[in-house]
Amino acid sequence: MFPREGDMNQSAAQLTTTDDLTTKSRAPGPKGLPLLGNVLPAWKDPVSLFMQSQKEFGDVVRFKFGPYDYYLVNDPDVIRHVLVDGAKTYTKSRNYLGLKLVLGDGLLTSEGDFWRRQRKLAQPAFHRESMEGFAHQMSYATRAMLTRWEGEDETGGESDMFCALAEMMRLTFRIVGLTLFSTDVDSEAQEVGQAMTVAMHHANDWAEALWNFPAWVPTPKNLRFKTAMKTLDSVVYRIIESRRADPTQKKDLLGMLMAAVDESGEGGMTDKQLRDEVITLVLAGHETTANLLAWTFYLLSSRPEITARIREEAKTVLGDRDPALADVPRLSYTKMVLEEVLRLYPPAWAFERQSTTTDKLGAFDIKKGAIVGVSPYVLHRHPKFWENPEEFDPSRFAAEKSATRSRYSYLPFGGGPRMCIGNAFAMMEAQIILAMVARDYALTVDPTHPVEIDPRITLRPRHGIKVTRHRS
Ligand code: HEM
Repeated sequence: MFPREGDMNQSAAQLTTTDDLTTKSRAPGPKGLPLLGNVLPAWKDPVSLFMQSQKEFGDVVRFKFGPYDYYLVNDPDVIRHVLVDGAKTYTKSRNYLGLKLVLGDGLLTSEGDFWRRQRKLAQPAFHRESMEGFAHQMSYATRAMLTRWEGEDETGGESDMFCALAEMMRLTFRIVGLTLFSTDVDSEAQEVGQAMTVAMHHANDWAEALWNFPAWVPTPKNLRFKTAMKTLDSVVYRIIESRRADPTQKKDLLGMLMAAVDESGEGGMTDKQLRDEVITLVLAGHETTANLLAWTFYLLSSRPEITARIREEAKTVLGDRDPALADVPRLSYTKMVLEEVLRLYPPAWAFERQSTTTDKLGAFDIKKGAIVGVSPYVLHRHPKFWENPEEFDPSRFAAEKSATRSRYSYLPFGGGPRMCIGNAFAMMEAQIILAMVARDYALTVDPTHPVEIDPRITLRPRHGIKVTRHRS
């Protein structure tokens, strides 16, 4: 998620250099190589580079990534300045160009008036009135997964190892289809999951490469990407086409987007615009939550006392019922656990903005075109805001403790107008799934299985999370 010189069409005038900032007003940062700057350590291990640099240089650190100035900010006031006060003068950074190859101009990647219009159109789909139905679908899909597990257990599969990440991807993908598009995509989960992985790796590598072959050159990588995009597009266009043929006016997200007409009152969205919004929601709406749940099962595996508390809460609140919307606020300990997992393993581990003007980050000057990075991963382990930051301790999120913390020291869902549109959806979904799984099962991570972070566009466990399940 940090910039690497990829867009060779960038004009020299747009590039920035800190060389002419006076030493006094220039933020400190690690020394780099001529031309490349700090790109090599960032390629090798961006999380370590960011963590160490924050410790060494403070809360505004300057890097050079090729020709780009990149500032990592860990001061809540500066972060608010960029995300909220600067919402009009900062755009999404050029890093998002990699994502645009997959998502086009969807909510995550679009800008300006077009983004504002689309956000206004999509927002009502996430209002309270929709939540009841979402909770119902989330419980339904989780119940279906647990029923499948039971069947497998009966045929002797209980002690077999499986990948919690793959299983959660399948479940959250199904939920996104059911809730936002009223479509059951379960049978396509595997095919779409594989295509999504290829596409996201390509987007990440593309944004990070020093140079890329144009898309039309038939390199093996480009061809693999093309095939993956064909798979994804065929699923998305199938969803759109079947809805166009459906005379019932469904009131889900897709229905709202399709019913929208532009301000002049003419015509709705083109198929391409719809495609971009749908694929954005499919991707943003399941991958991150699946990662959150996979990291949760990883952390809980070594903390049986926390799992037991989640189970007790589920039994007290739900008995034998599956959760409905009204139960969700009462699954409060489960929520604290998830908030703590989001602190330690934020799926959106870094996101960026690009300044369209000169600006000040605290005491430091930055030039037009500079990229400003916020890394929830680093921020959430900052010793100024978190006691024993490396420790997994859900009690940090007890209401009275959360109330004393700066809003901008905890940003798993971002902040300002571009904050995640699906944050309440994601938290409810994760609460429902975790409560239902923990009520029936304990998942144990195989101690020989390597667990490593893979910081790309999202923070995935590099080798998945291999677990066995045991009925509790
Ligand atoms: C644990 C789960 C999730 C995490 C950690 C997460 C995190 C984030 C973050 C940090 C951003 C802001 C990015 C930026 O400022 O550059 C974002 C934006 C977004 N998220 Fe999420 N998200 C999650 C779940 C979801 C879900 C479930 C949906 C949809 C159902 C969703 C849809 C979106 C969209 C459309 C945007 C772009 C919003 C805009 O720019 O207007 N996300 N997400």
